[in-house]
Amino acid sequence: MEYIEFEEKISLTAMDQYTILGVIGSGAMGAGIAQVAATAGHKVVVFDNNTAALDKAKKSIVVTLQKLQEKGKLQSADDVLQRFSFTETISSFAGCGLIIEAIVEKLEIKKAVFGEVEKVVSADCILTSNTSSLSITSIAAACAVPSRVLGMHFFNPAPVMALVEIIPAIQTNPGLIPEATALMQQWGKIPVIAKDTPGFIVNRIARPFYGEAIRIYEEGIADMATIDWAMTEIGGFRMGPFALMDYIGHDVNYVVTETVFQSFFYDSRYKPSFSQKRLLEAGWLGRKSGKGFYSYAEGAAMQEPQKDEVLGTQIFERILAMLINEAVDALYLGIASAKDIETAMTRGVNYPKGLLSWCDEWGTDKCLEKLDCLYHEYHEDRYRASILLRKLAAGNGMLLA
Ligand code: NAI
Repeated sequence: MEYIEFEEKISLTAMDQYTILGVIGSGAMGAGIAQVAATAGHKVVVFDNNTAALDKAKKSIVVTLQKLQEKGKLQSADDVLQRFSFTETISSFAGCGLIIEAIVEKLEIKKAVFGEVEKVVSADCILTSNTSSLSITSIAAACAVPSRVLGMHFFNPAPVMALVEIIPAIQTNPGLIPEATALMQQWGKIPVIAKDTPGFIVNRIARPFYGEAIRIYEEGIADMATIDWAMTEIGGFRMGPFALMDYIGHDVNYVVTETVFQSFFYDSRYKPSFSQKRLLEAGWLGRKSGKGFYSYAEGAAMQEPQKDEVLGTQIFERILAMLINEAVDALYLGIASAKDIETAMTRGVNYPKGLLSWCDEWGTDKCLEKLDCLYHEYHEDRYRASILLRKLAAGNGMLLA
């Protein structure tokens, strides 16, 4: 990746375990990130503008750490707990060297909060956002010193999921990237570096897992249970797309899809579906509301898949070809290195295999043939193959050779 040379050199606090961390937002992600950092030895200041949210986070952190101690996974919960402070006043961030923001996914609110934080922290404090889908560059632009801003995208639940996407904005001082990488390794995380483009690595490449599955269902090729069965039993994925969307919640999964689609200037590859939009409109958010694609009411009958190997293989191969195409295109466009793309999909969303190695295993020619068949059948841009796949297939090339 190339970065603009900066005239101005900001003096960066070397990030280490003595850096005091400020976490903005004490919801699911903020509380999880705070727990990881305090366990790694940092003092952590957790700020939220909602008293109830702050109380809930405090209680859940205490319970989680005590459970970890009981299981012998943590020496002393009290040692970790005494590193925390919880606050409703942003001025408590004054001594922090690093801020991680994890508030509501709204650009204007995030920009305003970053502006407020900058008024209280020192000149060398590093400001990061855990946003899933917003532009880091836009957030940085709201700051007086944009070069100290970068994205640090954790996965849910943050204490369990090892992957962290590090996303420099175009204004970010490049010196921050190795510092953030080293810090994440100290925390026991697996950092990957992503270009500041919609969905970064995981939320971009994973889109067809949901979108193509819904498309197959909407066309009446198979029902949801059969598609889920094909992806788990034939494909080896941990969860099928419909079960996974219900698990994530349509308020999160649909909104990410729509944001990615809009951010890609309405590229049909990322087009959202009416089936999922209607679920969101109905408030059928998935497991959390007892109903989504499936019903989770007590006694509700599980749908039976049609265990037809031929149909199942067709479904699995179609979705996999679309996923591989996304991964290959992300590589071609320099969104991340091949190694980081593989790590991101296996560690961020637990895919059974890296998509680039899956492509090599299948053969680039077979992947291309699948996509070209779909393209000729539908005459839709959605099924266009990445030029890198086409070039490699023409020369019998491999992605990871
Ligand atoms: P959440 O809704 O559980 O928590 C957000 C917290 O921020 C709430 O406690 C709320 O009171 C607080 N808050 C809202 N506005 C605030 C403000 N102006 N000042 C201070 N506190 C404020 O949200 P969640 O799920 O933790 O997500 C937070 C961020 O992390 C979002 O940007 C989201 O896209 C991102 N993210 C979420 C993931 C997930 O699976 N939930 C995964 C990775 C990233």
